[in-house]
Amino acid sequence: MQTITEEAVLEALRQVQDPDLRRDIVSLGFIKKVAIEGRSVEVEVELTTPACPVKEELKAECEAAIRSLGGVETVQVEMTARVRDTMEDVELIPGVRNVIAVASGKGGVGKSTVAANLAIALRQSGARIGLMDADVYGPTIPLLLGCREARPAVVNGKIIPIERYGVKVMSLGFLLEEGQAVLWRGPMVAGTVRQLLADVDWGELDYLVVDLPPGTGDAPMSLAQLVPVSGVVLVITPHDVASQIAGHSVELFKRMNTSLLGIVENMATFVCPGCGTEVEIFGRSRGEEVAKRFNTRLLGRIPLDPTVSQSGDAGMPIVIERPESPATAEFERAAGEIAREVSKRAYAEKSLIRELT
Ligand SMILES: Nc1ncnc2c1ncn2[C@@H]1O[C@H](COP(=O)(O)OP(=O)(O)OP(=O)(O)O)[C@@H](O)[C@H]1O
Ligand SMILES: [Mg+2]
Repeated sequence: MQTITEEAVLEALRQVQDPDLRRDIVSLGFIKKVAIEGRSVEVEVELTTPACPVKEELKAECEAAIRSLGGVETVQVEMTARVRDTMEDVELIPGVRNVIAVASGKGGVGKSTVAANLAIALRQSGARIGLMDADVYGPTIPLLLGCREARPAVVNGKIIPIERYGVKVMSLGFLLEEGQAVLWRGPMVAGTVRQLLADVDWGELDYLVVDLPPGTGDAPMSLAQLVPVSGVVLVITPHDVASQIAGHSVELFKRMNTSLLGIVENMATFVCPGCGTEVEIFGRSRGEEVAKRFNTRLLGRIPLDPTVSQSGDAGMPIVIERPESPATAEFERAAGEIAREVSKRAYAEKSLIRELT
């Protein structure tokens, strides 16, 4: 019987394509290890994000490709990930690879709820995550994560973020006394956003999720000026679609020169707690339509579910409290799609740089 060689294994793996980067995983440099011992083959495939939604499919394809070689008895494919950078060595936050801003056109659409659940879902995929509450007008992240009483320590002049559910969290809420209000003037907002970024020891993060205040006011503007935001996730509700707020917001964020990763549609459907049927209570969902019209993607559709709200109020987001719920499934899907979009951008940037130099 013919011996199995590394070349043959690599050749076989060239049949496997990354569906987003549209190239084979060998020329993308994803194969980190090939070990052959007699009739058994072991490979390590390093993806661009641990939250990759097609990880299992790719793994199966790799196994099948290797098995298609004659004489192979056992195959072991290990899937690992290294999140690529969209913002190499930004001085303000040196260890942070990508910044994902969660925004909305108007208040109360579920932006903070989405930001918190997305952060945890990304964390559960294995990525290193920070969550920054940039809603300086009404910081609610400490409430949603059940850490309102927490007070971060300061070490060597840097604030150490609070850790909740494996996520590094920072909010102005930690620095204010209960009930203390701040009267903001424009430049103060910029200064505070800067501080929440730069004075905090974020360490090494794959994704820093930022919960913005509603609209396109001072905080989003400052953020976009301070760091290269990898992309914005826009949260919309059926009401925004009806009143055209959704469209206006998309345009505004496009004008700010930040790329839109896509739309999360919140509270468009209701999942009946009794029978599990999904009802479109506000009429036909238009999220897909809006995404198409503005040349972006619908990343997820979170149903209206009283447990989303209750779990938030109780400081334990639904992704943790009800891992099997339909809302959790959508948060996880959105997290995967977001990670995927960020990878595409990181890769596009790199290949563009390679082409230019
Ligand atoms: N999918 C959902 N199902 C049920 N309730 C939800 C859902 N999403 C959000 N909510 C509830 O809606 C309210 C507003 O949500 P949240 O605070 O996340 O919105 P926001 O856009 O961050 O608001 P703000 O503009 O005040 O920052 C909260 O009570 C939250 O629990
Ligand atoms: Mg909020």
